[in-house]
Amino acid sequence: MTPTQAESIADQARAAGCPVDHEALRAAMTGGGADGSDRHHGYEPFQMKDPFVAYAELRAHEPVMYDERIGYWVVSRHADVKAVFDDWETFSSENAQAPVRERGAEASRIMKEGGFTAYSGLSARIPPDHTRLRAIAQRAFTPRRYKALEPTIRENTRRAIERMLASPERTGDFLADVAFDIPTITILTLLGVDPEMVPTYKRWSDSRAAMTWGDLGDDEQLPHAHNLVEYWAECQRLVAEAHARIAAGDAGDNLISDLVAAQQDGAEITDHEIASLCYSLLFAGHETTTTLIANSIRVLLSHREQWERIVADPVLVPGAIDEVLRYSGSIVAWRRKALVDTEIGGVAIPQGAGVLLLMGSANRDADVFADPDAFDITRADARGHLSFGFGIHYCLGNMLAKLQDRIVLEETIALAPTLRLQDGADIDFRENLSFRVPTSVPVTWEA
Ligand code: HEM
Repeated sequence: MTPTQAESIADQARAAGCPVDHEALRAAMTGGGADGSDRHHGYEPFQMKDPFVAYAELRAHEPVMYDERIGYWVVSRHADVKAVFDDWETFSSENAQAPVRERGAEASRIMKEGGFTAYSGLSARIPPDHTRLRAIAQRAFTPRRYKALEPTIRENTRRAIERMLASPERTGDFLADVAFDIPTITILTLLGVDPEMVPTYKRWSDSRAAMTWGDLGDDEQLPHAHNLVEYWAECQRLVAEAHARIAAGDAGDNLISDLVAAQQDGAEITDHEIASLCYSLLFAGHETTTTLIANSIRVLLSHREQWERIVADPVLVPGAIDEVLRYSGSIVAWRRKALVDTEIGGVAIPQGAGVLLLMGSANRDADVFADPDAFDITRADARGHLSFGFGIHYCLGNMLAKLQDRIVLEETIALAPTLRLQDGADIDFRENLSFRVPTSVPVTWEA
């Protein structure tokens, strides 16, 4: 983040009523506090390449730190992160989908005139709306649906891996060649959307991640604003289409039809709420799973002996997935808002304050995980990670995400056991507040 961008974010935070300490801000931008120390313990909110050293510093020295650059209280210890997630009456999720960087005037105009009125499907809804909608949505996320999807996911996975292995140079990018498409095809199929739309949904999803959790200047926002208008119009069209199909007696076996049918059977859910759920699922349903798959391959291959172990004994795959989620989660930070004057870990938090929960740090907390920086696929308590959140908003798609990762790992082990990272691969990560996404996973293999 440039000093100008940091200052601008701070101005917005101040305008939103968050106390901004401009002295500290200037000091932070020039690399340290007034006494020469690093005010933020090395924490850079949008830097995802290697945040773990800074996380450890935060946990050790200032586990609840006000970061005036973004206007959030940054919480880094496992016990505190979990406690905040668990206390929805004090800490509301209503800010979970709010743009970190306020929308510029032109982007706002494009979205308003384009009829963009999407709201969070579930994650930023609060009880009683959240309770009502989650109960209805949950009915559509059945194990029967997952089971029915498994052969298709496996077939798609095999095809993608075989396509990659056909490279005469024996090089590929596991993220682009395999991880990118699989979860997107799955969620589109689940919602009854044409899988040919994958590139379009990926484009829209990139825009959603950048516009909500990114650090964009006003001009950079414009193409994304257009994308979000298109994306929302399509979600509304899908709901209208489901109504028409049901009226024609051809509902089809998919989640949108289920929700519309539930509405027609008396469930309390509006078309706008169904379209908002589509808007959420068509993003949440693949973005983070693409990252999980990419991270699973990246982390396992960079711990070669553990890759060899799952190749020899694929029964170890489910444990490896939980350890990847702990060690290198797809979402490392998530937001809450204090509804009353309260405290976290003994630090006073004022009513209305934004709270940034660092799950990526909580997952490396030595108070919970022994030798937390070691990657160990046989770790017994890896499932204590907070990568899917905790409490009433606990990720609705966690089983689907793990199912897909398991299938991809099983098929990769079978088809490409000699897979390894390309020599000297220095993998970068996109700048973002919450989503820790590698830009590529360059791989090679034996003939
Ligand atoms: C590795 C993959 C995934 C990760 C890391 C992930 C992570 C998360 C996190 C951190 C939350 C917020 C939890 C909270 O506020 O306590 C969440 C909520 C949610 N996730 Fe996921 N997710 C993943 C995959 C999926 C998939 C595949 C779907 C859908 C098919 C999905 C649908 C949802 C929904 C609907 C919510 C909101 C739940 C609520 O507010 O009640 N997620 N997820």
